[in-house]
Amino acid sequence: MAVYVVGSLNQDVFLDVPELPHSGETIASSGLAYAHGGKGMNQAVACALAGADTTMVGCVGSDAAGADLVAFASQAGVRMSEVARVPGPTGTAHILRSARGANCIVVTAGANAALTPDQVTVALAKLATADVVLVQGEVPAAASEIAVRLAGDCAARAVVNLAPVVALSAEAVGCADPLILNEVEASALLGMDEESFLADPLEHGRRLLRQARSAIVTIGAAGAVVAEPGSVLLVPAPRPDRVVDTTGAGDAFVGVLAARLSQGQSLCEATTSAVAAATQSVSRPGAADSYTGAFREA
Ligand code: RIB
Repeated sequence: MAVYVVGSLNQDVFLDVPELPHSGETIASSGLAYAHGGKGMNQAVACALAGADTTMVGCVGSDAAGADLVAFASQAGVRMSEVARVPGPTGTAHILRSARGANCIVVTAGANAALTPDQVTVALAKLATADVVLVQGEVPAAASEIAVRLAGDCAARAVVNLAPVVALSAEAVGCADPLILNEVEASALLGMDEESFLADPLEHGRRLLRQARSAIVTIGAAGAVVAEPGSVLLVPAPRPDRVVDTTGAGDAFVGVLAARLSQGQSLCEATTSAVAAATQSVSRPGAADSYTGAFREA
């Protein structure tokens, strides 16, 4: 069955730094690289590489970065016919990447801000029961809202990755099956600090079931908490050979999870595949480029 990814496409600008800087600090970067990103496109690429019939719905700018993103994702097997090219710049993410593989990201929406409910409605016209509609938080909320509503209208599965946490209606979040968050996002949604969340992730994962049909919280190297009515469990992550860059690991998780759900796996089975994909992605640089091995230093 098909997966429709309604979301962002960004040119990622990586800056290598020894440590992430503190407020007010000026530091030197030892490396600069341009790469392919955006949570939506990363997830679509991971999904297509996992063998799912994947369509991206979004916007790129009229610049070279936009054309490059469309070519890159097409090459990875993502259907890009529902990606509009709009006047102005493509979305950009500036990513500070530390020697330990940690990161800090600032996104400028660019063309992503032009995604409208009308474009989403046209793109999802052929949506069918058993398809999967996947949204994140880097495009206008109205576009994500309509995508989830259209999924509900034809009993398709809505997968909502609230990354970053944006104000989606309780109705849209309530349709999520699953709602996917990392531990920072889950803590924010539950109104607690990260330390409190990590003290009892299973119990706090269970609390998310009051807001969504099912929920997954990724907790880095520890794996992911999967909460469904009647069952909450931890799916452990395999140990990575090495950690080079954690950028896009969460997107690898979400994309592979959506693919496996579209292929008929249960939420727990799909999560096992997803944690393996996320672990693999951290051993190579870049976001989507770490899935394809295409990352190039400038
Ligand atoms: O999740 C990683 C992604 O977040 C990067 O590719 C960047 O574009 C930002 O959207």
